[in-house]
Amino acid sequence: MPADDGFDREPDPLFESVEPSGGDRIFERRELVTIDHLPTEDRIVGRDEQIRMIAGEIGPAVSGAPPNSVMIYGKTGSGKSLVAKHVVQRSEREATRRGNALATGYANCSQAKGNSDTLQQLGEQITPADSSVTFPERGISENEYFNRLWTVLDEQYDAAVFILDEIDRLKNDDILMILSRAAESGSVSTPIGVIAISNKINYREQMSERTKSSFGHTEYVFDPYDATQLREILANRTDAFKNGTLEDGVIPRAAALGAKEHGDARKAMRLLRYAGDYAKNNGADTVREEHLLEVRASAEAERLRDLVSGLPSHSRHVLNGLAALTKQNEERQWFRTTQIIDAYERVCRKEGVDTLTKDRVRQLLKELAFLEVTENRSNHGGKGTGSYKEHRLMWDAETVSRMHSRS
Ligand SMILES: Nc1ncnc2c1ncn2[C@@H]1O[C@H](COP(=O)(O)OP(=O)(O)O)[C@@H](O)[C@H]1O
Ligand SMILES: [Mg+2]
Repeated sequence: MPADDGFDREPDPLFESVEPSGGDRIFERRELVTIDHLPTEDRIVGRDEQIRMIAGEIGPAVSGAPPNSVMIYGKTGSGKSLVAKHVVQRSEREATRRGNALATGYANCSQAKGNSDTLQQLGEQITPADSSVTFPERGISENEYFNRLWTVLDEQYDAAVFILDEIDRLKNDDILMILSRAAESGSVSTPIGVIAISNKINYREQMSERTKSSFGHTEYVFDPYDATQLREILANRTDAFKNGTLEDGVIPRAAALGAKEHGDARKAMRLLRYAGDYAKNNGADTVREEHLLEVRASAEAERLRDLVSGLPSHSRHVLNGLAALTKQNEERQWFRTTQIIDAYERVCRKEGVDTLTKDRVRQLLKELAFLEVTENRSNHGGKGTGSYKEHRLMWDAETVSRMHSRS
């Protein structure tokens, strides 16, 4: 490239939205409206009681005494992860203040690749850098992960609190059971409390009797927010934006959209952030209500992507096949398993990947139904035909395709 000192030139419109400070003209602190950001206490709306109750259950851990384990249920965006992390963060501070060593760990089971991966993440978080115990990503058994966890806990800590988020995404409840009963079974002397979180209230039915008895008396259900609460949640983050860049109607509208199916703070927050990004990327001076409408479809796609994250890639091929069928047959919604398998195989050919067995595809379909991406029903055919299963996409087929085109 020829040397060019760049002076005496017109500003390049390509970089128009970049301010001299390196920031942008819309956001002041964009991180405040990201989902994983843990807000300060004064920004949390309407969960005082839940925070107090959960603190009450795990509370003894701050003094090194045995905490209770708790189960939190609630739909997406009802503040489950936030409340759990908030309480654990405060318990850790309080333990330190009291001179006790409290181990804390967080694992999102929807992102983990199974039990071992979950244990590996927890182990790594509580292991001091100079420890002789290590948690390699592979090469040791589930059992060995537990043994190492016990060693670290016994050597370094007075008590432990672990958050297992989206626990329903693990194939079984072994971790839940072993962690919550570890002290009692004599595997470790450090008392452990578990905060387990599930988006599905029927997860209870999947729990073994023994696990249920550990969590039986300490379950909390988080109700969805109403539009007023959502508005307040968003209003408490307006300092994410530069002064005067957020037009008045945006927050009420984002809150109303977030309240549409069930009061979902995650959806509302995401809409607000996307609208800001849209304004920024399109050179607008302010974020306006109409920007929310522009980004609605991508926010939906993102929500679906959350749901299917962590599924094997072939689940996406199955989903893609079903979306293609749905788009090709507008008058129909329900498709037989065999039709979906054919559509799936077409997707695989197009992607140039080998197909899985039909049985395996049936399993993947079951998993998609469990996540409420699809639903199924059994049909009892007429004379001579056996019964068969049919499946339907519970999401807009366009949203499914859009999700795939971006990932
Ligand atoms: N009561 C609340 N006050 C303030 N922000 C909240 C509240 N509930 C949820 N949020 C925010 O909404 C988003 C989704 O919340 P999250 O805890 O992840 O929900 P869940 O785990 O139930 O799906 C996060 O960005 C979180 O900070
Ligand atoms: Mg969550």
